[in-house]
Amino acid sequence: MIKLTKIITKNELVLAKEELDKGNLVIFPTETVYGLGANALDSEAVDKIFKAKNRASNNPLIVHLKNVHEIEKYAVVNNEVEQKLIDSFMPGPFTIILQKKDIIPNNVTCNMETVGIRVPIDETAHHLLDILEYPIAAPSANLSTRPSGTRVSDIYEEFKDKVEFIIDGGESTIGLESTVCKVIDGIPTILRPGFITKEDIEMVIGSCNVSEFVLKEAHGKVESPGMLYKHYSPKTKCLLVDKEKIDEVRKDYHNPIILGDSTIMGDNVICYGDDLVSIAHNIFKLLREADEKQGDIILIQAVDLKGLGLAIMNRLIRTCEYNYIRKNDENN
Ligand code: TXA
Ligand code: MG
Repeated sequence: MIKLTKIITKNELVLAKEELDKGNLVIFPTETVYGLGANALDSEAVDKIFKAKNRASNNPLIVHLKNVHEIEKYAVVNNEVEQKLIDSFMPGPFTIILQKKDIIPNNVTCNMETVGIRVPIDETAHHLLDILEYPIAAPSANLSTRPSGTRVSDIYEEFKDKVEFIIDGGESTIGLESTVCKVIDGIPTILRPGFITKEDIEMVIGSCNVSEFVLKEAHGKVESPGMLYKHYSPKTKCLLVDKEKIDEVRKDYHNPIILGDSTIMGDNVICYGDDLVSIAHNIFKLLREADEKQGDIILIQAVDLKGLGLAIMNRLIRTCEYNYIRKNDENN
């Protein structure tokens, strides 16, 4: 895995704590993406997150804890499958949806009976949580509909007037948000795929379902409200294209920008990497870079759905607003 670290001073953590204690917002690094954090037990502070992000008021936030032993303070583990998931994947890029305890304010969970719990493994996130007397509620640090922030330079302009403190931990190691998983009828169900894959969960639990909305547009009542919204979008229109079709499709545009692997030739091609870990790491920052080139379209090479590929495709299909040209399509 790509490892990029930046030294964080103790002083920075203390300054961040001071702001969080006052009920203010702090952007902090995690191993997945940057988080826009507030004291999870302070409902007024939590309200500020929804305003700063322009986030829908029915899209609940994840609560970040310093360690797994804290889970019982905020949520109920109802069965062995949930416990096994916690033992196997936490701390790490994994969010488990559990029955909520009353101590969590209702605006964190948007009045749902459940709460998303995550224990980040990133050192800075962990050190920050360690000096706090409360957990951090945090969505990804990006304005709603925009690509998630994986380096401070990408989100600085969006948030410089909206948050009190930013901890710059360099580029996020993983680059895609956590796997969101809920046990439904005894079976783990992935509501949002991430670095912990369906295959990883099957290895320890034996079975794992994936929500049908992971690759499809959702409407109405869904398990996870985040499925309903526009997401991960640059300003330029984007189109997902199977590799075999890229050369054909690019001819239809004046100035196409192409995001794909190192075998794609020509002008305005941005290489997103040749393996899934690199693509996950690079994709959000490169979507922003591709946007800056102001082409008439961004063509994004699709990846295989196996393993981490499912998480990448879950983000890209939304980036492209479900517009996807497949290799077997007759005409594009
Ligand atoms: O890696 C991550 O998960 C990052 C870092 C900062 O931890 N956070 C993140 O948060 O991606 P956000 O708010 O951008 O996405 C959280 C997702 C949303 O799709 C939301 O609907 C879902 O988790 N979610 C949160 N609480 C839920 C709940 N109680 N039931 C179902 N889905 C929930
Ligand atoms: Mg998000």
